[in-house]
Amino acid sequence: MQQKIKNIREKFLREVEETSTPQGIENLKIKYLGRKGEVTKLLKEIKNFSPAERAGIGKLINDLKKEITQSIQQRLESLSKEVKEKKGDITLPGTFSSLGHLHPLSQIINQIEEIFQRLNFRIVDGPEIEDEYHNFEALNIPLDHPSRDAFDTFYLKSKEQSAKGKEVGKRSERLLLRSQTSPVQIRVMEKEKPPLRIISAGKVYRPDATDASHASMFHQVEGFMVDEEVSFANLKGILSIFVKEMFGEDVQMRFRPHYFPFTEPSAEVDISCLLCKGKGCSACGNKGWIEILGAGMISPRVFERVGYDPDKVSGFAFGMGVERIAMLKFNIRDIRLFFENDIRFLQQF
Ligand code: DAH
Repeated sequence: MQQKIKNIREKFLREVEETSTPQGIENLKIKYLGRKGEVTKLLKEIKNFSPAERAGIGKLINDLKKEITQSIQQRLESLSKEVKEKKGDITLPGTFSSLGHLHPLSQIINQIEEIFQRLNFRIVDGPEIEDEYHNFEALNIPLDHPSRDAFDTFYLKSKEQSAKGKEVGKRSERLLLRSQTSPVQIRVMEKEKPPLRIISAGKVYRPDATDASHASMFHQVEGFMVDEEVSFANLKGILSIFVKEMFGEDVQMRFRPHYFPFTEPSAEVDISCLLCKGKGCSACGNKGWIEILGAGMISPRVFERVGYDPDKVSGFAFGMGVERIAMLKFNIRDIRLFFENDIRFLQQF
């Protein structure tokens, strides 16, 4: 019997050494201490011995039971410590990484593009570094126009190109940061033939002092359509769909005569104030109307520049400021909020 007890002890010690998972140790516990376990079986054999022998054998078995119980307990504790050190404490609450989302201006650009895509307009990108020809000349903006002044546009300093640009009468390749998205009209028409329905969003730059309504970089969306018989009525139709989709069914729209060098006739488009619904309030300067974009019929001079025959094709164009639209939609009073990257502001959209 003593040999048997010794054998079981040695077998247990070997097995506990080889077991490296808490589940394995639990299995050992059942194997040795469970109802049908090895130690339990030994205890049942005591009755086969003479009363004199029983006490001695009983003590041996109980010592073994104690040893196995302790060893299992210790092994379980050290294993669970190892697991915690390796993986961290899996019972602690998890850490959540916050999900980002699109910047409010990107959201507005996407929304505008979606509306026009549904009207069969195609998205095109234009360069932010433009030349003077595409930003001004081709758009029929004369040399003495104030926006061509060095103080009204960011010119890039390249000696070679600055010299070239000064040659009056020649196509100016002087480089600048585009001050409007309208040059995209020229770039597309130079490459493609009508029919065209294009929408183009992006950054534009003007050396304006920054305040609540001005920034030296902002965003515009340009749109235009060219075909054989495009009329002002088409412009009005497309823009009224846009205004209703963007601002709501009950918003009114009006055209005010205006001047742009690259469109003839030209107009500015107003919508009824979203806050006072046209009655007049501080947001609309008591006018009841808010200007949202410039538009018009593309000038024959622009068509001639890109080699189109103004007697055969016609088209409309429009351009709007994205920040302005976003400020109206979200009722934001200061343009600088868009660019400060204050997470408390951005999280609201
Ligand atoms: N490019 C003009 C601006 O920056 C906006 C504009 C007006 C674009 C009329 C157009 C247009 O396409 O037809 O002020």
